[in-house]
Amino acid sequence: MSAETPATTPSQETNPPVDGSELIRFDKVTKRFGSNIVLDELDFSVASGKHVTLVGPSGSGKTTILRLLMTLTKPDSGTIKVNGDYLTHEQRGGKLVPAGDKHVREVRKHIGMVFQQFNLFPNMRVLRNVTEAPVTVLGMSKDEAEERARGLLDLVGLGDRCDAYPTQLSGGQQQRVAIARALAMRPQVLLLDEVTSALDPELVAGVLDVLRDIAHTTDITMLCVTHEMNFARDISDQVLMFDAGRVIESGTPEKIFTDPEHERTREFLSAVL
Ligand SMILES: Nc1ncnc2c1ncn2[C@@H]1O[C@H](COP(=O)(O)OP(=O)(O)O)[C@@H](O)[C@H]1O
Ligand SMILES: [Mg+2]
Repeated sequence: MSAETPATTPSQETNPPVDGSELIRFDKVTKRFGSNIVLDELDFSVASGKHVTLVGPSGSGKTTILRLLMTLTKPDSGTIKVNGDYLTHEQRGGKLVPAGDKHVREVRKHIGMVFQQFNLFPNMRVLRNVTEAPVTVLGMSKDEAEERARGLLDLVGLGDRCDAYPTQLSGGQQQRVAIARALAMRPQVLLLDEVTSALDPELVAGVLDVLRDIAHTTDITMLCVTHEMNFARDISDQVLMFDAGRVIESGTPEKIFTDPEHERTREFLSAVL
């Protein structure tokens, strides 16, 4: 699993300088489903180039955070900024108004997501799964998209499976295609939502190795939800402990995993570690 092919290192082509500036900012974001307040005036930010891991109990709103960033769902109040631009709002005549579709598409272009359930296009071969969005959304030529896709599929160890259909692959292989597909959009930030949770245990390591490789060899920003605490420890600059709609504690993985401040964090970790 080598990342030594420079043409496939997404960050070199795309990312702004990793200067520690804020790439993602949530400001007092509230999200409710009926009477269920899932996010409660949530504030947090992710600096450019950093790897941030969200941990917390099931149902605490971690997926909701990532879905808000993908604009798959909308906040009830508060604002989200990506790379300095409002995601769900735009400035018009000095006022902040709900964003139009075009604005949302522009801002969201910077974000790639890998889901728990792969979500590959079942009717497309592996190569086309990876080229489809760069061609249709970014307007990349088919030749360029295919050349890049082959490089990315090499990066995830699947350079020889370009012509397969998703159902011909194992779950771990499908998830690695999904990672290549997300990277093909040259995202500044990669969102990873429990990407190994649906996999058979023996397939988990291969996917985590690919992600470690990406984390260590590119400067792509990562926001990661995972229950794989060793992986979180390896790649994270910062861990956010999330509970009841708020970040209750954050720090380096060493700090959070070995010397947490909050009783709630201790309880959570003793259940998962
Ligand atoms: N589309 C939805 N409709 C209603 N409730 C939802 C929906 N999506 C999530 N929820 C609720 O929001 C809460 C947080 O869910 P989620 O973000 O998936 O948590 P996590 O990823 O931390 O397990 C849960 O109580 C869940 O039932
Ligand atoms: Mg979830």
